[in-house]
Amino acid sequence: MTPDSTRCAIVTGATSGIGEAIAEELAAQGFALLLVGRRHAEGAAFATRLSQGGATAHFLRADVTDRNAPEAIVQAALESFGRVDALINNAGLLSHGTAEETSDAEWDQIMDVNLGAVFRLSRAALPALRQRGGSIVNIASDWALTGARGAVAYAVSKAAVAQLTRCMALDHAAEGIRINAVCPGDTDTPMIAAGLTGDDRAAKIASYGAQVPMGRVGTPQDVARVVAFLLSEAAGYMTGTLIPVDGGMTAG
Ligand SMILES: NC(=O)c1ccc[n+]([C@@H]2O[C@H](COP(=O)([O-])OP(=O)(O)OC[C@H]3O[C@@H](n4cnc5c(N)ncnc54)[C@H](O)[C@@H]3O)[C@@H](O)[C@H]2O)c1
Repeated sequence: MTPDSTRCAIVTGATSGIGEAIAEELAAQGFALLLVGRRHAEGAAFATRLSQGGATAHFLRADVTDRNAPEAIVQAALESFGRVDALINNAGLLSHGTAEETSDAEWDQIMDVNLGAVFRLSRAALPALRQRGGSIVNIASDWALTGARGAVAYAVSKAAVAQLTRCMALDHAAEGIRINAVCPGDTDTPMIAAGLTGDDRAAKIASYGAQVPMGRVGTPQDVARVVAFLLSEAAGYMTGTLIPVDGGMTAG
């Protein structure tokens, strides 16, 4: 059992990239973690690694688009830790294509993973978050804030997450629940160089970095630190915000 004072965070898509970095950062901050993902071996190994480092971390295998997942995830957190203080909706799927290049099935899948699942899990977590004035952080995208070429389903899904963030923030502010979003620019994770390895991958990442005002893509840790800030007392008067972590991409 964790001490009653230990805060508990749920992190979805926690087995790679930004989600993994968020889990590591929150573990370092003393959160007990429920890690959620689809890959059991990776998730269980990650929970073990965090636990060996002194953290309290459990892994729950779940596909966030499963209609039973939200209740199961919240229930697992309550059974393990007795409370939910933070929900990090990080799981997401990238897709490319103009409207004509996007099938109905692809549109539906992107909306289900990136938007519907965020809505359903946030809704399910509200009663637990209400107990102590918890916080939700949604991982949106810089493409939630600007138009994007050739990624219509993904960019629309992330813009809708931004609006979900603002609407839910307004609805639940008086209950002491803060809801914010982080909007990463290109970040060095498996998502942005899928299928590439070695020099090809390095060249692709460098080409993305060259387009960024700060001259490099983000690291997962760049995003994780801002998530930790949003969960901290320092951000206690912030709700409904969309924070770019993009090296200046959306500044111009
Ligand atoms: N990497 C970037 O450049 C970038 C930029 C902006 C926003 N983001 C967002 O950051 C978040 C994390 O992405 P990442 O870059 O770490 O990529 P990633 O592919 O490493 O991580 C995404 C995670 O979500 C999980 N996931 C996908 N569908 C799921 C489902 N149905 N159920 C459970 N888990 C599921 C994946 O298994 C994976 O662990 C995503 O929401 C992504 O859209 C990433």
